[in-house]
Amino acid sequence: MKPTIKPINISFRVFSPQDVDAVLVIEQLAYKTPWRRVQFIQSLSNPNILAYLILKDNRIVGYSIALHTLDFTDLLNICIHPQYQHQGLGAQLFNHLLNVSNIKEVFIEVRVTNYNALLFYKKLGFKVINIRKKYYLDGEDAKMLHFSISS
Ligand SMILES: CC(C)(COP(=O)(O)OP(=O)(O)OC[C@H]1O[C@@H](n2cnc3c(N)ncnc32)[C@H](O)[C@@H]1OP(=O)(O)O)[C@@H](O)C(=O)NCCC(=O)NCCS
Repeated sequence: MKPTIKPINISFRVFSPQDVDAVLVIEQLAYKTPWRRVQFIQSLSNPNILAYLILKDNRIVGYSIALHTLDFTDLLNICIHPQYQHQGLGAQLFNHLLNVSNIKEVFIEVRVTNYNALLFYKKLGFKVINIRKKYYLDGEDAKMLHFSISS
């Protein structure tokens, strides 16, 4: 009998308030200074927010939250469960966001020491456009990155 190859069962859906509990578990595993529940709830209630989940075998393994206005899109949070990082899921989630929206340009702030994320964004085509000194509450600087669909 031939061995069965398990399909990589990836799907996407809209991130809604009832998903916050599952997302908080991932957020707390992935970040030194995680968002709190109230930040997710407030974001999801904003009509200008585009928020999506990525699921593997029907389990939530990551999420993205973007603030989308006429003038700009700010990627506020993108996160993949640590056990599923570096398997291409973050890139798939970002591409999903582009595919289901009319986003042309994206901005994001990244901690200067978040080396994996900086590599990730570089690979997606983001360019560093500015440094924001002491951007975070703990005093760390941020790199401001920009992505344009045409670049
Ligand atoms: C940043 C993040 C969303 C990337 O998602 P991901 O699924 O791990 O990324 P992908 O697998 O799509 O990786 C694509 C590229 O990112 C970089 N990368 C991602 N994880 C990496 C790691 N652990 N080590 C080195 N490079 C890494 C690499 O350049 C990789 O390309 P490669 O596979 O050719 O080496 C994820 O690492 C994460 O959730 N980190 C914690 C939360 C966070 O910091 N979010 C960003 C806030 S600004």
